[in-house]
Amino acid sequence: MNLFDVYSLFDVTPVRAQGCTVWDDKGQEYLDLYGGHAVISVGHCHPHYVEALKAQLDRIGFYSNSVRNPLQEELARRIGEVSGYDDYSLFLDNSGAESNENAAKLASFHTGKDRIIAFRKSFHGRTSGAVALTDNPAIVSPFNAHHRVTFLDLNDGDAVADELAKGGVAAVIVEGIQGCGGIHVPAPGFLQMLSRTCKKYGAALILDEVQSGYGRTGKFFAHQWAGIKPDIITMGKGIANGFPCGGILIAPKFRARKGMLGTTFGGNYLACAGALAVLDIIEQEDLMHNALTVGEYIKKELPKSDRIKDVRGKGLMLGIEMNEPVAPLRQALLFDKHIFTGVAGQNIIRLLAPLCLTKDEADRFLAAFGEILSK
Ligand SMILES: Cc1ncc(COP(=O)(O)O)c(C=O)c1O
Repeated sequence: MNLFDVYSLFDVTPVRAQGCTVWDDKGQEYLDLYGGHAVISVGHCHPHYVEALKAQLDRIGFYSNSVRNPLQEELARRIGEVSGYDDYSLFLDNSGAESNENAAKLASFHTGKDRIIAFRKSFHGRTSGAVALTDNPAIVSPFNAHHRVTFLDLNDGDAVADELAKGGVAAVIVEGIQGCGGIHVPAPGFLQMLSRTCKKYGAALILDEVQSGYGRTGKFFAHQWAGIKPDIITMGKGIANGFPCGGILIAPKFRARKGMLGTTFGGNYLACAGALAVLDIIEQEDLMHNALTVGEYIKKELPKSDRIKDVRGKGLMLGIEMNEPVAPLRQALLFDKHIFTGVAGQNIIRLLAPLCLTKDEADRFLAAFGEILSK
């Protein structure tokens, strides 16, 4: 049997990893500024994380959500504490897309409405509702296209107010920082306006922090730079450093009803053990502060080149927009300099390094990138 051929692959086979370093099957070492697509938050194979998962596996690996699981309660307490959202509730699921599905469903249950406002260049996942909220017709099948979604320009507050005034809107969904769309940061004033206007019209404000959250920008969630408190916050990716896990934080005004949301695997023991270990490491190693300082250092020290059009983002969620397609540059970084990077669109290099990236590792990238650009 062949694999269903949907991924464009680099000819690299990682077999081992530690911190921000990955080794392939030929023993070649790579610097990881991609973090497996923003998933590796606390570094590859952190000993505390590995030990927590192994120890949990020795105790109990899985039971269903029909019995008590104190690890879920502990995780809710810890996320509440570190994020400042201790008055919110936690629902655990398995991925970013599922988190956005649950957020949209909850907003719709709560308001009794079915329309959602999303933004151009958004990405919210590939499941039915999440992909309908994603501004990329190439990945929306006819089956997914029947949801009632209105796309507006990011940072166009007047357009959102006009659309909300028309009525029937259950929610507005926005990424803390648009990732796949090219690292576009919503203006703090725009987020504040969304928060006020959603309240005025009784729509839920959903912040998709799947990529931008979990400390990546120097605060636990990127929207906290704007000082707002959304109604629902969605999480995924870095939450358990690669063990599949997602979740949503839910404001106190939402009433739970038995059976309203559910999942087989969500909140399982291994995911919770991984997620708790991630929070331990983020706190013990002050990784949010590290992400901010090393990210800002990269921004400041990037080579000066007229081939660079713009640099955007915050902390370790950075986009370097070039005046040219970046595929050859990424090839050179990977195969000549042995550095993994991400991409958005044709012209943007996307950096999503583990939050433990050191200044020395950042320097290695800066020197390599400078050399490539000077050729
Ligand atoms: C902002 C955002 N939301 C949702 C998702 C979907 O997450 P998953 O692939 O875990 O379903 C992603 C994935 O890249 C994302 O970047």
